[in-house]
Amino acid sequence: MSNVAVVYWSGTGNTAAMARKVTKGITRAGGTADTMMARDFSPTKIDTYDAFAFGCPAMGKEQLEQKQFEPMYAEVEPLLTGKKVVLFGSYSWNHGEWMNIWKKRAEDAGLNVVGTLIVKDHPGIMHSGDCVRLGELIAKA
Ligand SMILES: Cc1cc2nc3c(=O)[nH]c(=O)nc-3n(C[C@H](O)[C@H](O)[C@H](O)COP(=O)(O)O)c2cc1C
Repeated sequence: MSNVAVVYWSGTGNTAAMARKVTKGITRAGGTADTMMARDFSPTKIDTYDAFAFGCPAMGKEQLEQKQFEPMYAEVEPLLTGKKVVLFGSYSWNHGEWMNIWKKRAEDAGLNVVGTLIVKDHPGIMHSGDCVRLGELIAKA
């Protein structure tokens, strides 16, 4: 079972709520998880983990958040070739295009994207189970 880093950025708490539920799924599946904000993750921490769950909402124009998440992610992505990851985040205005862009970017960089999850606004009862299942998926990957 995997030791998973759950690394996220959230401005208004929606992606943070997803991160908590993803973490619940990881531990429910028997894995272990460290859940941290983007600014607390760096290349030196990569070797501690078997797998990674990255969370970031749609920001800018279908972009990752630019001040904290993007610089961290751009730094670690080239070091994660072949690693199992899931990507998740909240959006509101459009249809989740940022996740399609992000998934392709990760795959082009050689990451093994085993799952993605997008939730419009806050993950209520309807989407809690999806978040937990994403956690179970990466814990067992
Ligand atoms: C500056 C800014 C840019 C945003 N850009 C997009 C966007 O391009 N597409 C979209 O669907 N939602 C966009 N949103 C909406 C957020 O993705 C949405 O409110 C999300 O739930 C925020 O998640 P959080 O609570 O984790 O910060 C944007 C919000 C802000 C504040």
